[in-house]
Amino acid sequence: MAEERIIGKKLLHYSSLPSTMEVAAGEARRGGEEGTVVWADEQLSGRGRKGRGWVSPRGGLFLSIVLRPTLPQLPSLLMLASVALVRVLGRLFGLTARLKWPNDVLIKGKKVSGVLVETSFRGEVLEYAIIGIGLNVNMDPERYPEISATATSLSRELGREVDLGQALEAFLEELDGLYGGLRLGRGVFEEWKGYLETLGQRVKVIGVGVEEEGVAQDVAPDGRLLLLRKDGQRVEVPAGEVSMFLWS
Ligand code: BTN
Repeated sequence: MAEERIIGKKLLHYSSLPSTMEVAAGEARRGGEEGTVVWADEQLSGRGRKGRGWVSPRGGLFLSIVLRPTLPQLPSLLMLASVALVRVLGRLFGLTARLKWPNDVLIKGKKVSGVLVETSFRGEVLEYAIIGIGLNVNMDPERYPEISATATSLSRELGREVDLGQALEAFLEELDGLYGGLRLGRGVFEEWKGYLETLGQRVKVIGVGVEEEGVAQDVAPDGRLLLLRKDGQRVEVPAGEVSMFLWS
């Protein structure tokens, strides 16, 4: 028998918001149902990782999803969202997407989507997690100087506009299936790892109190990146608040 739907059972749709993250956090704090999706047509102060912004004009897909995972499930959330995106881009649009560790979805080396996971703890207890997903759908990244060199969109890749509602529904369904699997103990680590174009590359990773350079050798099941440094030492970098650059 099919599992009961969790993600997307409740969908809150807004024309415009500062950021879907705050509205989703408010829902979570008020005891909102697990799987509640906050969707905005545009964001006026969209948030990226590391305090950066997220360019969020109409035509893009901006979502935050309230989840109440267990602590051991937490590292898998980033993987589930990225894998769901890669699968849907392939199935619906025939686009081959790859991942740049830890959270960028790329098409031909340009970023089409980013995933953010924010959490709230009471002491050591995880209260909730919010997955934030931004997908460049029907937009021209060339119009935004801050992303024009590094980003792409579905309409740009396909040369036509796509049905945003269809993309939304397909993504939520895919993610719901994967989250149901996670609750039954089935993660997507191997699939996620298989999509990572980072492995084998020379990279520089910068995070809070971390700066490492080396060859990205492998990833651990909790998402940590295993780097081989020039001095021959192996170091592990958590997938938290880090930026990664190709190192030339
Ligand atoms: C990244 O920096 O790569 C992650 C970007 C995540 C952006 C999404 S858009 C929907 C949600 N609301 C936000 O303000 N940010 C996330």
